[in-house]
Amino acid sequence: MATIEALAVAPEARGMRLGQQLLQRAEEQLRESGCRLLIADFEPSRTHLARYYAEAGFTLLPEGQPLHVGLPGGIIFPRPAHTDCRTSWKALSKEVTVQPGLMAQAPGQPPVPIPGGVLVGVPGAMPPS
Ligand SMILES: CC(C)(COP(=O)(O)OP(=O)(O)OC[C@H]1O[C@@H](n2cnc3c(N)ncnc32)[C@H](O)[C@@H]1OP(=O)(O)O)[C@@H](O)C(=O)NCCC(=O)NCCS
Repeated sequence: MATIEALAVAPEARGMRLGQQLLQRAEEQLRESGCRLLIADFEPSRTHLARYYAEAGFTLLPEGQPLHVGLPGGIIFPRPAHTDCRTSWKALSKEVTVQPGLMAQAPGQPPVPIPGGVLVGVPGAMPPS
């Protein structure tokens, strides 16, 4: 998995689709290197980012909803919710599946259901639905 930490287009060049092209290029390179999930967090008050990521094919979670990730080998990578944060994610592989309403665990223990969470992951990582 990869997360977008910082991405910007020069102010005078915005609105010319460069931002979308940057995302596409990043996705292609990540796919080639075996990455299967791309995550982008952003401040909900920056509403244009919701449009930006939605247009790029990301799934947007409601504000404050955490996204936990099932990794190969059955490991759950917890990503707790932060206040004033909205998470979006995009599968870079058809292997990635999503299970609403499930959450993660302590190391070595199976996932437990926690209302409101979302778990995405690859085969071998996901608990039976
Ligand atoms: C977010 C950012 C990278 C987008 O780059 P961009 O080249 O301007 O975006 P694009 O031209 O590819 O826009 C694609 C779509 O995103 C949305 N969008 C992007 N910026 C927008 C804005 N300021 N207002 C409204 N919608 C916006 C639109 O839906 C747009 O589609 P449209 O042109 O059909 O309306 C750019 O605005 C930026 O650098 N912002 C400051 C840094 C930042 O917020 N980075 C992201 C978080 S790390």
